[in-house]
Amino acid sequence: MGVLTSKSFVREKANQKEFSLLTNKMHSASVTNLTHAAVYLPIVITMASLATGLALAIGGMDMTSGLIPVSTLIAFMTYTRHFFDPIEQLGHWFAEMQMAQASAERIISLIEATPQIQDSTSVREAVAIQQNRIQNETRSSSRYALDGGDAQIMEIELAQVSFAYNPKKSVLDNINLCVKRGESIAIVGPTGGGKSTLVNLVCRFYEPTSGQILINGQDYRQRSLQWLQSNIGMVLQNAHVFSGSIMENIRYGRLSATDDEVITAAKIAGADGFINELPRGYLADAGESGSRLSAGQKQLVSFARAVLADPQVLVMDEATSSVDTETEQHIQQGMQRVLAGRIAFIIAHRLSTIRNADRIIVIEDGKITEQGNHHQLMSLKGHYHDLYRQQSLQESSQQLNPAPTG
Ligand SMILES: Nc1ncnc2c1ncn2[C@@H]1O[C@H](COP(=O)(O)OP(=O)(O)OP(=O)(O)O)[C@@H](O)[C@H]1O
Ligand SMILES: [Mg+2]
Repeated sequence: MGVLTSKSFVREKANQKEFSLLTNKMHSASVTNLTHAAVYLPIVITMASLATGLALAIGGMDMTSGLIPVSTLIAFMTYTRHFFDPIEQLGHWFAEMQMAQASAERIISLIEATPQIQDSTSVREAVAIQQNRIQNETRSSSRYALDGGDAQIMEIELAQVSFAYNPKKSVLDNINLCVKRGESIAIVGPTGGGKSTLVNLVCRFYEPTSGQILINGQDYRQRSLQWLQSNIGMVLQNAHVFSGSIMENIRYGRLSATDDEVITAAKIAGADGFINELPRGYLADAGESGSRLSAGQKQLVSFARAVLADPQVLVMDEATSSVDTETEQHIQQGMQRVLAGRIAFIIAHRLSTIRNADRIIVIEDGKITEQGNHHQLMSLKGHYHDLYRQQSLQESSQQLNPAPTG
């Protein structure tokens, strides 16, 4: 997968050397293995032949001296063969079982790995009770989620949330934030500040080290993980596109969607334009890991997928960073429709994309340092103000002195 990087840094020789080192280890292990087999088998066969020879010699002498008839000798030889054949087979099976055991150990350790984040016993019980109620149709209205709690997410609150990937270094420190349904929150700040970590916590890929995340006032650890995550749509910077048609890729967001629904979602996401220019349109193959699409096109497909999924919470982490300004403006228009009635977390380095967000928070070194809408933050004259000024200056100088073409 890193072939272009290897080529561009002319690392073919170094890579080949590293590969040779690894394969040499494999080579010497295989040779040892075969040597053992080459010694073991002849020994066994020689011993078996010697035993047969010995039985024939002694039996032959007994036969000539009239102690046993020839039929007894033949019967004896046949029985011993029948006796040793299965033993030999057992040997083969034993070797095979050892190989299978090694593989099984690896697979089982993966199957038995317990996820660090999972539903508590009380949540699992609540899900079972709700399933029972649905079967008896006493409480199947869409007001209730699969764990019997509220189905609608009206508010997400982070209360004194701190988080660390490892105990030595805290990544988020005492974050307080309340987002209501219909609100879009933009998160900006320097690289490594903790923006992605914050949304990972909201999605419960990780849980806060201290503090709480509350959904409608209830700690989200008391709600079903499946319910929460099925109501969150994520669009990531390095969006993954699977091999298969574009249509299938967008439909991945909601498998029951019709072709028309897929196309409508693509239009809202601003993906319809480039898809129609492809030779087979929506049926065009995206290639292995979406290799036939550009980075920006992959982001558009991934955005369309999230629009189609119709989630209550939309998380966009640098979702349109590879898209040109014109397409981005097109997406902005569609966004108003997409965001209505949802909670959205939008992380962006390009500030022009988040100007219209209801609230913008600046995260630096794991702390919220500024908060407010665009105008409020501009009048604060802090980090956001400086950043916005810098980017506007860059953009206007690019417009005045466009890069030479040709
Ligand atoms: N899985 C992880 N394990 C350990 N540390 C991590 C992990 N993911 C991120 N970090 C660390 O946490 C800090 C915050 O990372 P995060 O990805 O939240 O930054 P960010 O604000 O999203 O940055 P960017 O703008 O570059 O995307 C960084 O110092 C990073 O090194
Ligand atoms: Mg990030």
